[in-house]
Amino acid sequence: MQGERSVLPVGAAPQADSSTVKDHDGAAFSARLAGLPTGRLGQGLAVLVDALDGLVRELQLTPAEFRQVLDYLTEVGHAADARRQEWVLLADTLGLSMLVEDLNSPRPAGCTPNTVAGPFYRADAPLRDNGGSISLDGKGVPLQVRGRVLSLDGMALPGASVEVWQADGQGKYENQEPDLQPENNLRGRLRTDGQGRFAFRSVMPGGYDLPSDGPVGRLMTRLGLCLARPAHIHFRVSAEGHERLTTHIFDRADPAIGRDAIFGVKPELLADFRAAPLDGGVTGRALDLDLVLCPLRQG
Ligand SMILES: [Fe+2]
Repeated sequence: MQGERSVLPVGAAPQADSSTVKDHDGAAFSARLAGLPTGRLGQGLAVLVDALDGLVRELQLTPAEFRQVLDYLTEVGHAADARRQEWVLLADTLGLSMLVEDLNSPRPAGCTPNTVAGPFYRADAPLRDNGGSISLDGKGVPLQVRGRVLSLDGMALPGASVEVWQADGQGKYENQEPDLQPENNLRGRLRTDGQGRFAFRSVMPGGYDLPSDGPVGRLMTRLGLCLARPAHIHFRVSAEGHERLTTHIFDRADPAIGRDAIFGVKPELLADFRAAPLDGGVTGRALDLDLVLCPLRQG
């Protein structure tokens, strides 16, 4: 390169190319990709760089601010390990995880909306008796859940698989507290009966806060945003000839219902966990719900 420069006439500007444009813009990166077999990866990077280019220009980002951004992203990476996925937490709290879910699993009106499974799902939850209890330690306010799995036309779906998982009354999942809760506490798999019905006994789930001790929690706290997730029960339902449903059912009365930290609440997912006398003369809560699946679609 030194040799090439030396042959330029004194005072002549070097030839501009895509690496020396004075007024750099995102299109320069896209131009470099043009014609290369980069596929979806290149397409995604081009869109990303265009968006970042717009951000830098709109904010007139200073070098010091840019350094801060890079330092923050480095911190997020360092906070992630095999047990904790800080990047997923960042995507969740920015609303990006739910956006991807909404774009990829739109359901016709009348079907129960899909949501993210979240980090506490276990695929190996044990099969429970339909009507039995999923609370292995009996701690908490008793809750009776009764539901039906239906197709969009209202037809009951017998033999459907209903996976359920939830936090305890303190807002903790059993896999967060392996030393305090029994293995597979408050989770299990059930099969719907001949009328598409399922039932289980449990305890009222508590709402919980996302972790505040990492870079994502600190960012949200600094912005004055809350990390609360309103109380809910997770369901994953599979039935022959239907799209799998993964969703949450939220307690309508939870004070955090309007500010879910990961934007998972939808009007169709609100339910009443009503006070009710339960079997055995105890007073507890009862939840009745229908989970409506979408028939498999072409394409
Ligand atoms: Fe959850």
